[in-house]
Amino acid sequence: MSVLIAPSVLASDFANLQSEVEMLNDSQADYIHVDIMDGVFVPNISFGIPVTEAIKKHAKKPLDVHLMIVNPDQYLEAFQKAGAEIISVHVEACNHLHRTLQAIKDLGCKAGVAVNPHTSVDVLEDVIQDLDLVCIMSVNPGFGGQKFIENTYKKVRKLKEMINRAGSSTLIEIDGGVNQDNASKLFEAGADVLVAGSFVFSANDPKGTIARLKEIR
Ligand code: DX5
Ligand code: ZN
Repeated sequence: MSVLIAPSVLASDFANLQSEVEMLNDSQADYIHVDIMDGVFVPNISFGIPVTEAIKKHAKKPLDVHLMIVNPDQYLEAFQKAGAEIISVHVEACNHLHRTLQAIKDLGCKAGVAVNPHTSVDVLEDVIQDLDLVCIMSVNPGFGGQKFIENTYKKVRKLKEMINRAGSSTLIEIDGGVNQDNASKLFEAGADVLVAGSFVFSANDPKGTIARLKEIR
């Protein structure tokens, strides 16, 4: 299977969101990655539910919503209604992760969990069967355009082994600092989905950049 690409609109031109989403519709992107930051869980505020609805209004690709917020349970239904197909919560923000994942599924969404660079994937061992996606953060969340953390490859390999052992179909997503230089190595380590923000949107040819990422083997 070829790698799945999820461009992050965090790096797009918010004043021209409709045309940015239409560009993604026309591209080989598989998902549209939507980064929600609350200024509490992460030291930055991005956008929230109304902007997610606006993206959904034009999107022809599924929305992959990454909640970098405290108390995610409180907002799951709002994001489902806003058009999320995948909802990922941070393991560091969930006291009752199993219950939260169940709540996401009960809403008819795919359930994902994101893990910060300092969090071991070992904490997912007992919920791996319940997970549609694990988002391994390859930067500290909060900002686009940061440097990729090299320890990520090791985490991907460890998580892949865990998924294989469990016979689960959980996808591994990598988020932060993804570019043409690390994409192949991530795919080789076992990544299924690559999020790319600044690498796509700051390129002269975003569609071509997505196409080239999609080609990696
Ligand atoms: C970081 C976000 C990422 C970010 C990726 O907190 O979760 O999705 O937009 O951006 P780049 O690809 O620029 O690192
Ligand atoms: Zn993200």
